[in-house]
Amino acid sequence: MKQIEFQDKNGTFMIHNPENYTGLYLPLAGERGLKSSITPVLGGDSKTDQNHFLLEPVSIENLHNNRNTRNFWCRVKGKGYWSVCGNSAEQELARFTGEQEESTLEAGFMWQKLTRISNKYGLKAQTTSFVTVDGSMEVMLVELTNIAAEELELTPIAAIPVYGRSADNIRDHRHVTSLLHRIQTTEYGVEVKPVLSFDERGHQKNETTYFVYGSEEDGQRPEAFYPTVPQFIGEGGSFLIPEAVRTEKAGILAGQLIQGKEAVGAIRYHNVTLMPGDTKRYIVLAGMAEQEEQADRIAASYRTFEQVKQALSKVKKHWTEKVNVDFETGDMEVDNYLKWICFQPVLRRIYGCSFLPYHDYGKGGRGWRDLWQDCLALLIMEPSVVRQMIVDNYGGVRIDGTNATIIGEKQGEFIADRNNITRVWMDHAFWPFVTTKLYIDQTGDMEILFEKIPYFKDLQSCRGTAHDELWNSGYGQKQCTESGEIYFGSMLEHILLQNLCAFYDVGEHNEMRLHGADWNDALDMAWEKGESVAFTCAYAGNLKDIAKICRELENRTGISKIEIAKEMEYLLSDGKELYDDPMKKQKLLKAYSDCCAHNITGHTVILRLDQVADNLEEKADWMMKHIREQEWVADQNDAGWFNSYYDNHGRAVEHCKDQDVRMMLTGQVFAIMSGTAEPDQTKAIIKSADRYLFDEKAGGYRLNTDFKEEKFDLGRMFGFAYGEKENGAVFSHMAVMYANALYKQGYAKEGYKVLKTLLDAAMRVENSVMYPGIPEYFDNDGRGLYAYLTGAASWFMLTMITSAYGVYGELGDLVIAPALMPEQFDETGDAALHMEFAGKKFDIFIHNPEKLMPDQVKIQKAQCDGTDMEKHDERSVYLPKTVIDTLSSEKSHRIDVTISYHMDL
Ligand code: G1P
Repeated sequence: MKQIEFQDKNGTFMIHNPENYTGLYLPLAGERGLKSSITPVLGGDSKTDQNHFLLEPVSIENLHNNRNTRNFWCRVKGKGYWSVCGNSAEQELARFTGEQEESTLEAGFMWQKLTRISNKYGLKAQTTSFVTVDGSMEVMLVELTNIAAEELELTPIAAIPVYGRSADNIRDHRHVTSLLHRIQTTEYGVEVKPVLSFDERGHQKNETTYFVYGSEEDGQRPEAFYPTVPQFIGEGGSFLIPEAVRTEKAGILAGQLIQGKEAVGAIRYHNVTLMPGDTKRYIVLAGMAEQEEQADRIAASYRTFEQVKQALSKVKKHWTEKVNVDFETGDMEVDNYLKWICFQPVLRRIYGCSFLPYHDYGKGGRGWRDLWQDCLALLIMEPSVVRQMIVDNYGGVRIDGTNATIIGEKQGEFIADRNNITRVWMDHAFWPFVTTKLYIDQTGDMEILFEKIPYFKDLQSCRGTAHDELWNSGYGQKQCTESGEIYFGSMLEHILLQNLCAFYDVGEHNEMRLHGADWNDALDMAWEKGESVAFTCAYAGNLKDIAKICRELENRTGISKIEIAKEMEYLLSDGKELYDDPMKKQKLLKAYSDCCAHNITGHTVILRLDQVADNLEEKADWMMKHIREQEWVADQNDAGWFNSYYDNHGRAVEHCKDQDVRMMLTGQVFAIMSGTAEPDQTKAIIKSADRYLFDEKAGGYRLNTDFKEEKFDLGRMFGFAYGEKENGAVFSHMAVMYANALYKQGYAKEGYKVLKTLLDAAMRVENSVMYPGIPEYFDNDGRGLYAYLTGAASWFMLTMITSAYGVYGELGDLVIAPALMPEQFDETGDAALHMEFAGKKFDIFIHNPEKLMPDQVKIQKAQCDGTDMEKHDERSVYLPKTVIDTLSSEKSHRIDVTISYHMDL
């Protein structure tokens, strides 16, 4: 039997008895507001941010013990009491005594429907859970049907414990903060408004009201409440067998105030008699409101079954439409997995890295590199919002080329680091240009490079090595000039600054210093002498691409000069003597950062774009040559790869000795992606990666071989068990970037293998134990961990579209250069991709009737709406921007590309 059965083309799936798997959860959230997670027994939590948790925070390790959670009970006269979520002591036991109830979960984007059938109680319950699109509340709709032959007398009781405070209080003043609770029973439910909030922000007057309301399908009010934990579970009781359910306890009526107790939104509805076949519906709402009176008002729109039904269809429509990319690869299951992968970047934008059970770190917000990479997916799905996002995000760059790492709630809001944490992630400056380049290619909008943007300013200066003692919050968080004005530089200036500063920031091997870490956050113990060859490659690639953009800028716009801050001119110094000498480079960088440590002069200079481009290319060529000569690790057999790092003793980290092969994927990815690796080297790397890193069962290419050493001179990653997370797991993000790099250099078959093994591992649900999507990594048993929130999703989607289907922008033109494998077409040799480009809808069909391999083909024919498309070369066609601009936005445009055998190959 298949564990996951898809119901449509929008990712809706079914899974039977999901409670038999540990660690499953689904995200439920609104566009803003509540961010929830929900398990198959309705466990999980719900919050708006670190300081406002509606339900008690849960991490993956206590998810299975999480019983003080959403529940809905039926006390059935003469029979006992039953939980519609399977969350009772009796049901839990029954699972292991051969009396397990039948349960099925159906789920889609931001909703789930759990069906449970109890023969013992003669009841079927369908419980639908979702968060409204505006994020104001969680809605639970319970539909109870009598499946017995006789009538049933029921007392329905909903119970959602209200935690109502900051996550900090989970073990910091847990009890004391309950003394702050003021609990009010109202007509429809229970409202909790703590008097104060105690958290890292200090003690503050609290304004938030947390609520749980109940109503019947026609909007009728409930009968009574058990608003505190003691009242609900009783002395010695538990949430798995609460006293108020077990016994006919009176409860209290509306209009009561209770103080200083842990709260439960426990709601008793009127007794009901269900005739055989009858169905009765109940609604439970839970959420929070900024003002007390708001709560009841917003909830009034979800009191009846009709209202809830409408809200649910709104949720389904909203999120389905959000993912406006469809793949047809001839395998419906793969297509549906891809749907979830495309949805994942949306989820990461909402949840950051802090608010799902595996992601229990940080306090909200996203990291700098995640911020930029999430934009990649948005560029495909919601391009209209991305321009401003990119512009705003550049405002986080400091004048020394580093950037703010504490990112605020609002777009473009960065928070000053007042904690003296001088951590610099040396890869950070790499990502903004990657995203900007994709933006420019997709849109042709080169003007963006001239947007004037401020620089971020805080206590940190000189690339995390010093503090600007003259700075205080009165100065503000924007870089000023000597005359006290905020300095604005073009986006191009920001890009140059970030990448040029990195160029000089080298260690003794003349590779870029690792600083606090690079992409691999867990390489965090080589501050003094560590170097990242991996990202030196990456920056070299950037410098080349920036040079290209400078030249294109001149070609396309006729603009031949740029203006930059006078201080930065220094960064364009050149000459082999400088390049060859790490000390000279560091000195130059120090001189630059010193002169920008507080204010800058505000003077600018004008530079010729072609000269800037020459300068960047010269630097990039030098870097690549240097890496090729210095970092190649030869395999005694016939292959080899690049050393990716130096440790804190200044030793190369990778080598190939008989019993000790140390190879890391990261260096290879960026060597290939940037073009540092020459074709023969790429071939050798592929061979080595297959030999030393590939493990099909674990999901494909591991991040590294087993060093069998704790290596305190490189990073905490070596403290992790081998095969877990950043130490040698198949880490999806890096694996997908490996695929991307391979496709980029024309290795479609090899790139496909990477993507396919990853996806296959996720789809082997008996091992991966996860709902559809791609996890952050697979462990040694092939289990998928850290569901949903991973940069891998953006890159997977991007690689499928721009590399495998080969549909991408080139300065605004739409290029199609398919590199699909024969198995990515259906039986008749067709594959399709439906997506938007430049605000126009396209249905792109690739026809490969002979099922040829990507390296055997040429484009035989290509048409858009029946008109021939222009050819770039034998393998790619394009639709010029000027033509796209004339296409109607109303209807979808059909592109047919037929490929055939290429005689000359
Ligand atoms: C996570 C972080 C990402 C980091 C990576 C490796 O990966 O979010 O910034 O580079 O770990 O340490 P993710 O799978 O979320 O992209």
